[in-house]
Amino acid sequence: MIRAFLLLFILVSTTIFSQKKLNLIPYPQKVQINEGNFTIPDIIMLSSDLPKEETEYFKKKEGSNLKFQNSGKSDAHLVYSQLPKSTNSQQNDEFYSLEINSKQIVIKSYTKQGYFLALQTLNQLFEEFKNDKQIPALKIEDQPKFAWRGMHLDVCRHFFTVEEVKQYIDYLAMYKLNIFHWHLTDDQGWRIEIKKYPKLTQIGSKRKESMIGAYVDNTFDGKPYGPYFYTQDQVKDVVKYAQDRHITIVPEIEMPGHALAALAAYPELACTKGPFEPATKWGVFDDVFCPKDETFKFLENVLDEVIALFPSKYIHIGGDECPKTRWKECAHCQELIKKNNLKDEHGLQSYFIQRIEKYVNKKGRKIIGWDEILEGGLAPNAAVMSWTGVNGGIEAAKSKHFAVMTPGSFCYFDHYQGDPQSEPNAFGGFTPLDKVYSYNPIPTELNAEQTKYILGVQANLWTEYIEDFKQIQYMIFPRLMALSEVGWGTSDPENYKEFEGRVISQFKVLDKMNVNYAKSIYNVSGKVISNNSGMFYELSTSQNPGGIRYTLDGTDPNANSQAYQKPIPVSKSMTIKSAYFENGQLKSAISSQQFTISKTTGKTITLEQQPSENYSFGGAFTLIDGIIGNQRLLGKTWLGFLGKDVVATIDLGNKTQFSEVYFNTLENKGSWIHMAKSAQIFVSDDNKNFKMIKEIGKDEIQNAKGKIKLNVGNQNSKYIRIKIENAGIIPAGNPGADSKAWLFVDEIGAN
Ligand code: ACM
Ligand code: ZN
Repeated sequence: MIRAFLLLFILVSTTIFSQKKLNLIPYPQKVQINEGNFTIPDIIMLSSDLPKEETEYFKKKEGSNLKFQNSGKSDAHLVYSQLPKSTNSQQNDEFYSLEINSKQIVIKSYTKQGYFLALQTLNQLFEEFKNDKQIPALKIEDQPKFAWRGMHLDVCRHFFTVEEVKQYIDYLAMYKLNIFHWHLTDDQGWRIEIKKYPKLTQIGSKRKESMIGAYVDNTFDGKPYGPYFYTQDQVKDVVKYAQDRHITIVPEIEMPGHALAALAAYPELACTKGPFEPATKWGVFDDVFCPKDETFKFLENVLDEVIALFPSKYIHIGGDECPKTRWKECAHCQELIKKNNLKDEHGLQSYFIQRIEKYVNKKGRKIIGWDEILEGGLAPNAAVMSWTGVNGGIEAAKSKHFAVMTPGSFCYFDHYQGDPQSEPNAFGGFTPLDKVYSYNPIPTELNAEQTKYILGVQANLWTEYIEDFKQIQYMIFPRLMALSEVGWGTSDPENYKEFEGRVISQFKVLDKMNVNYAKSIYNVSGKVISNNSGMFYELSTSQNPGGIRYTLDGTDPNANSQAYQKPIPVSKSMTIKSAYFENGQLKSAISSQQFTISKTTGKTITLEQQPSENYSFGGAFTLIDGIIGNQRLLGKTWLGFLGKDVVATIDLGNKTQFSEVYFNTLENKGSWIHMAKSAQIFVSDDNKNFKMIKEIGKDEIQNAKGKIKLNVGNQNSKYIRIKIENAGIIPAGNPGADSKAWLFVDEIGAN
C-alpha cells in the first residue's frame, strides 16, 4: 500500500514538475500537452462561421500575431463551434476550449466573449512559439474563477485622453480583465459632460493649480489645470470600444463626499453657502453634498444621463471618505436625522445611499460603493467594494450582499512597487508584484455559501502623483499581470518565481508595444538582519544573485564593482549602493541605502500595540534598523498606528551611556496623519521599574517638524522606553474630523 502510494506520488510529481508552463498570463485552468506539433502559418485561414468582430479585432490590432484570412471550410486552420447553452453547471459564460492538433486550431465556447478570450490565449501562444513556428499539440479548457476582474482609473486628479483610456482598456483586454471602473468625479475635477448641468464641466472640470511632489511638501505648481472632461459622444465611443473587447465599464459618480468640483459649480447643493472651488490639494474635504431634496433631484438627473450612457448592471456611487463635519452643524441635516429617527450622521450617510439606491434600482440598475456605505447600515441591494481592508467585504458577504475585494495593501497600484528611492514619486504604501500575486480574494473567514458573494477582485489606480500616461503604464505593469492571474483563479503564490519568469517573457511583448513598465522586479532589495554577531544588510534579487554589484563609498555601482556574496556588516553609519547586472548590462535601478547607527540600532525592541497591517512592514524592528524614514518618500520605513499610541521598549543588552534620544513622526493632515500629542522617555534597568527622564508636548513636536532630538542628560541604563501619544480623534475643521488619527513613527535612536 505504502509503496504504491509512493510510486504514484513520483509519477504525479514528475508529470507536474517536468512540464514547464507555457508563457501564458493568466494561466489557464487546464492545459494538456499532446503528441505532435502545429506549424504556425503566415496567414491563418479561417472557416466562415466565426464571430466576426472578435476576429477583426485581432486582425487589426497592432502587434497581433494573428493574421487572418477567410477561406473555404476544408483548408481552414481555425474552426469555431459555438456550444449550445451550457447545461454544465461547472462552466460559466466565459468558458472556452482551445485545441491545437497537427492540422487545425479548434475553438469552442458558449459566447463570443469566450471566443475572444480564446483568441487572446492563441495570440500569446503564437508569440511564444513564433521563432521556430512549432506549437505543441495541446488542449486548453479554461474559464475565470471570478466574474469581476476589474481595474480602476482615476481621471479626476489627473486627466487622461480618450486615446489613452482606450489604450488602458486594451491592456485590460490583453490580460483578460473584464471590468473597467472609471472614476469620473472627485474634489479636484468633474470629468463627464452632463447636459442638464453644464456648469459641472464649465466650472468643475478645471482647477487653479495642482499640488506637486510628495504631499508633505505642500507645494503647488501655479499652473491652471483643465478644462478637461469627456463629452457624451466621447463616452459613448469609449463604451463601445470597451464592449468590443468584452469589457464592461462601471462609471463612478462620487457622493456624498469627494464632491467639491460639483459644489464649485452648484454651491446650493452644500450645507453652507460657499463659494467653493475645485480642490487643488489632494486629500479629503469637509464640504460634501447636503442631503436636501434639491441635491437628490440633482443627483437623480445626473444619474439619468449616466445610466443612459453606460449599460453596466452596476453604477458606482462612491460613498467613501465623507466627513460629517458640515452635517453636524447643518440645521437641515440635523432636522432630517430627527425626522427619520436616524441615530447620527452615519445614519444620515446610510439614508443618503439608500435613497440613491432606490432610484438606481427603479431604473433597473444596482449600486456598488466603497466600504464606507456599510456605515449606519447597508442599503438593501448594494454591493460593497472593500478597500480599507477585507472586513467590508466579509461583512457584506455575511449579510448576503455581493462584494468586490480591493484591499489597499494588495490592490492599490498607486503604491510603490520597489524601493521608493529608485521609483517615481508615488503614494506611500508598498505593494510589490509578489504582494499582489499573493492575494486571495476569498477571505478565510467565509464559509462556502458566503463565498459565493465575493464577485471578484479589482486594483485601483489613483492619480494624484501620476501626471502622464507613461507613468500610468509604469504603475500598472507588471502588477496588472498578477491581478489578472489572481482574478482568473490560477495564481500560485507558492511558485511565485515561476510566475515571475512568465512576467519577464511578457516584457518582450510590452517592449514591442513601447510600454513603459516598471523594472522593479530586477531591483536589488535589501533587508536588515540582526543576530548575535551584529547587524547586516542582506541584498537579494529575484534574478541570479551573482548579478548583484555594490559599493560602500557612495559611488554608483557598475559591472566591475564588488560582487555581492554575503550579507554586508553594518557596524557604522554608511551608504550601501547596489544594482543588478546581466551580461555586463545594468538591468535594474540603482538602490541606495543610508544607515545611521546609534546605540539602539539592531538591539531588541518590543511594542505594546502593533501597527496597522497596511503599515507594519518590518514590524517593530523597523524602528531600530538604522534606516531613518524619509519624510518625503514615505514608503516602508514608517510604521503606522491608527488611533493608537506607540509604547516601545528597547533592550540595549547592557547598561549603556547616552545623553540624546531621537525619533521621527509624520504630519499629513489630508491623509489623516497627525503629529503626536506628546512624548515621554523612560529608563529602567530591570524592565519593570521605569523612571521618566523627559516629557515633551505637542508644540515641541510640531516645532521640530516631527524630527525630534531630545537632550536627556547623562544616562546609563539597560532599557529605554518611549511613549508617543496619538493625536486621538481628528478635531473639527480637519479632513477626517471625528475619525481616528494616524500616527506614523520611525527610527528611535540614542547617542
Ligand atoms: C478610496 O481609496 N478612497 C476608495
Ligand atoms: Zn446639510
